[in-house]
Amino acid sequence: MRSFVSTLSAAALAVHSVSAHYIFQQLTVRTTQYDVYEYIRKNSNYNSPITDLNSTDLRCNVGASGNGTDTVSITAGGAFTFTLDIAVYHQGPVSIYMSKAPSDVSDYDGSGGWFKITDIGPTFSNGVATWELYQNYTSTIPKCVADGQYLLRIQQLAIHNPWPAGIPQFYISCAQVAVTGGGSANPATVSIPGVFKETDPGYTVNIYTNFNNYTVPGPAPITC
Ligand SMILES: *[C@@H]1O[C@H](CO)[C@@H](O)[C@H](O)[C@H]1NC(C)=O
Ligand SMILES: *[C@@H]1O[C@H](CO)[C@@H](O)[C@H](O)[C@H]1NC(C)=O
Ligand SMILES: *[C@@H]1O[C@H](CO)[C@@H](O)[C@H](O)[C@H]1NC(C)=O
Ligand SMILES: *[C@@H]1O[C@H](CO)[C@@H](O)[C@H](O)[C@H]1NC(C)=O
Repeated sequence: MRSFVSTLSAAALAVHSVSAHYIFQQLTVRTTQYDVYEYIRKNSNYNSPITDLNSTDLRCNVGASGNGTDTVSITAGGAFTFTLDIAVYHQGPVSIYMSKAPSDVSDYDGSGGWFKITDIGPTFSNGVATWELYQNYTSTIPKCVADGQYLLRIQQLAIHNPWPAGIPQFYISCAQVAVTGGGSANPATVSIPGVFKETDPGYTVNIYTNFNNYTVPGPAPITC
């Protein structure tokens, strides 16, 4: 029995090491960095991406419920940072979305509307694209966002294996935040899944061939 179990864990380790990716696992609000999975929903997918555009796992990753996740207070206009276990190393854009919970965000499955607050695409210089591949991504909650509890969702879309031969990979985590001191914005929203399509240029593009411009998938970030 003992050897059976250790063979199993060796196999599990081997699988993890060959498919090693990365995961957004830690949240910082202003200058306080919280523990891993404190305020971020823990998924059961380890560091693996979502590739099914129609899956509800595209919201917050596989098995990431609010069960056992606490909610952190954040002031509108205030900064936050998502930190990964290791720096992102597959080229692609980073986006941050929010979705307002009808009541307690711990009970919310992300089936309502989402709006985007941040896009980080490539910069082009002399025909060469540079992607911001970091271990930490910092943004702010726009001042106009209304008070309430939200899922705060970060997504890195890895497009290093061009579609359709390669399937773009969505690396996703959701934090639970309670916004205070906010405004009265009522932004247009999109559904997840639904908003990303196999026809999005930012999804289908080959970044190794005639790559001169890039549109990050999804709606434009709100401005306020
Ligand atoms: C996802 O949904 C779209 C629209 O309903 C459909 O055309 C497509 O075949 C679906 N893709 C998969 C992989 O199920
Ligand atoms: C929430 O987590 C607790 C402790 O792990 C577990 O006993 C309970 O079944 C879970 N509830 C749901 C709805 O997943
Ligand atoms: C990014 O986060 C890691 C882990 O918290 C930290 O060690 C590192 O100093 C951070 N890097 C930057 C550039 O902030
Ligand atoms: C680049 O710009 C062209 C012209 O606006 C557009 O059709 C194309 O979809 C863009 N490509 C990407 C990858 O966003």
